[in-house]
Amino acid sequence: MQSANGAAELKRLLAEAKHVVVFTGAGISTESGIPDFRSPGGIWQQMTPIYFDEFLASQEARNETWRRRFAMQDIFKAAAPNRGHRAVDALVRRGKVSCVITQNIDGLHETSGIPRDKIVELHGNTTYATCLDCGERYEIADLRAIFERDGAVPPCDKCLGHVKTATVSFGQAMPVLAMQRAQQETLACDLFIVLGSSLVVYPAAGFPQIAKENGARLVIVNREETPLDRIADLVLHAPIGDTLGEAVGVN
Ligand code: APR
Ligand code: ZN
Repeated sequence: MQSANGAAELKRLLAEAKHVVVFTGAGISTESGIPDFRSPGGIWQQMTPIYFDEFLASQEARNETWRRRFAMQDIFKAAAPNRGHRAVDALVRRGKVSCVITQNIDGLHETSGIPRDKIVELHGNTTYATCLDCGERYEIADLRAIFERDGAVPPCDKCLGHVKTATVSFGQAMPVLAMQRAQQETLACDLFIVLGSSLVVYPAAGFPQIAKENGARLVIVNREETPLDRIADLVLHAPIGDTLGEAVGVN
């Protein structure tokens, strides 16, 4: 159901809940200057996704993937947690939120102060890179310098495997432990709050449905309509920062 004074209604649901899970998408980071994917002007309106098998198959696709990542580096570097992130962090600190399941790769929930063990990154993290074969870690700044000199990111210097940001691309296997943890937390909560996701990408978008089917209340705070609005207990088509900040009492 839509609500006029969404923040007050959200505040009431939070007060009544014992075990809250927050589930975030790119929409919580737009107020930090990071574009989302499917809003007008979003990333997938400017370019098409590069699927994992393409990345493996061609140097061209790997170069384009890295070119796109380095083009975003200044935006990622300048991005700081916004009021929405601070409100989620406050809920974690109060012991109200047990886990933040995020589709985001920008690391802003951790930067906002939430302990790593309370964050589940379903789509990985773009703040560093790893070798796909041996897992060796590489720093973005180092790879960027090589890319700008040579026009490509070299294979792993330990095993010659492909080096990729620690993110999950379309067509790439989901992280097993993260998925298991997300499932556990989703089944344990009595309130599941979606913040800033179009809820069109699976398996991630399955978690709000699982929570609802398991008896939790479902809240969706998202500027646009989502396919799961129809099953939610509260839908707020409103900006996350102000709405959640007011409900939680955080500036
Ligand atoms: N306040 C509220 N809602 C917002 C705000 C805001 N400040 N900014 C954007 N939104 C909403 C948009 O209306 C949009 O519906 O957030 C939603 C973001 O949706 P997407 O851009 O589709 O992002 P997301 O749902 O996280 O995408 C899921 O798709 O491309 C893959 O791996 C990528 O993790 C990503 C996944
Ligand atoms: Zn390697």
